[in-house]
Amino acid sequence: MKALILSGGHGTRLYPITKAVSKQLLPVYDKPMIYYPLSTVMLSGIREVLLITNPEYLDLYLRLLGDGSQLGIHIEYAIQNEPRGLADAFLVGEKFIAGEKCMLILGDNIFHGRGFGATLRRAASLEKGALIFGYYVKNPSAYGVIEIDAGGKALSIEEKPSQPRSHYAVPGLYFYDEKVVEFAKELKPSARGELEITDLNRKYLERGELQVEILGRGFAWLDMGTCESLLEAANFVETIQKRQGFYIGCIEEVAYRMGYIDREQLLKLGKAMEKTDYGKYLIEIANGEQK
Ligand code: DAU
Repeated sequence: MKALILSGGHGTRLYPITKAVSKQLLPVYDKPMIYYPLSTVMLSGIREVLLITNPEYLDLYLRLLGDGSQLGIHIEYAIQNEPRGLADAFLVGEKFIAGEKCMLILGDNIFHGRGFGATLRRAASLEKGALIFGYYVKNPSAYGVIEIDAGGKALSIEEKPSQPRSHYAVPGLYFYDEKVVEFAKELKPSARGELEITDLNRKYLERGELQVEILGRGFAWLDMGTCESLLEAANFVETIQKRQGFYIGCIEEVAYRMGYIDREQLLKLGKAMEKTDYGKYLIEIANGEQK
């Protein structure tokens, strides 16, 4: 399976912060936003990644992440000129996907919770159809909303409904089989002029091929579309990291723990940043001082 990270858009809800910089490069406490979804991809065991961004920011992402070899993964880049919708990622990424299965994650989504690595690796071994997640939220109207029956079977899916049929929002993390590009090509722009991921998911639902996994109580899913949610996410990361000492979204740590890089490589990455707590943390892990 391959992974796409969608990191485009104009971030207009964050103006003026994002007038001159890509939203997904903004700091979320101690690291760039993009580290969080990238760490999720890496935790799933997927090592072939396509990062989709706007033309003006390509150089910045390259400077930050390069070709991924320092993390033991392979990162390619593709350009989305205009935010044509989340499902447009499969058209932009068609060549990279090359008829394989793929995962899509949004560049502004954070996932954190115990056992999530195992959940991700199970999802990445998807055989057929699509797999999405459901997450109980107080106000689901801002999201894709999935309705499920008592047995967990998907009944309906709607994008930002004014009268939601359930409290289950669909987070920006999706797994698809080989049919995804073909289905994406059949989509028509919605009333807001976008190729909607929800319409794509509905295609799988109508074929009886949409699996939904609920991310339970206590699990953290955060997205960062507004100043408020950006600050909340930063505060969340700081709180957990200070309390437990374990970092959230630390791509170098994930690379090491997943066996993509060895101790020496981790030490080198840490030493290059040893003036910061982040760099010191990497050195501690390399020295076996963190469990
Ligand atoms: O966060 C989860 C939600 O993401 C889902 O529940 C919704 O079903 C889905 O439509 C989406 O809703 P949003 O309203 O949050 O999507 P937004 O337009 O804000 O885009 C999400 C991120 O993707 C944002 O950081 C910018 C990026 N993006 C968006 C579009 C439309 C792109 O890179 N390219 C695009 O074409």
